[in-house]
Amino acid sequence: MTRQARTSMLFSVTGAAIMLAFTLNAFADVDADAAKKLARKDSCLRCHDARKKKEGPSFQTIAYKYKGQPDALDKLVKHITSGEDRVKLSDGHEELHKFDTTTDTVRIRNLIGWILAQ
Ligand code: HEC
Repeated sequence: MTRQARTSMLFSVTGAAIMLAFTLNAFADVDADAAKKLARKDSCLRCHDARKKKEGPSFQTIAYKYKGQPDALDKLVKHITSGEDRVKLSDGHEELHKFDTTTDTVRIRNLIGWILAQ
């Protein structure tokens, strides 16, 4: 094999591996423990519960609402990280709907992915 052929083969194998990794990643199971921990730490659980309605809808209700929408993850990540979304609570006051401590999109995506899997 010529050196050029070897290099080009190496590139296509690497390319295929990267594509495969991305594909698998898109369907990979979420890390539920990390998601729950983050939800607790960034006070999502103050207003949300996995099953019960609190101030906010349950994660199950949210998952049901977005079922079958492939862009739901991106949409919700954008929504909650915009820093501009406000929620109105039952006593009439409004609060910013956002993460308190985390700006790490990988962890945020994991949490939203977990919510959508409820
Ligand atoms: C102060 C109460 C409160 C806190 C804290 C809170 N939420 Fe919410 N959340 C709500 C309410 C109320 C709604 C429903 C109204 C809405 O969708 O804007 C909601 C809706 C949502 C939705 C669905 C949005 C949609 O478009 O259907 C998601 C996803 C969500 N919250 C995630 C989170 C996450 C993640 C956190 C933690 C970083 C969090 N929430 C913290 C009150 C809260």
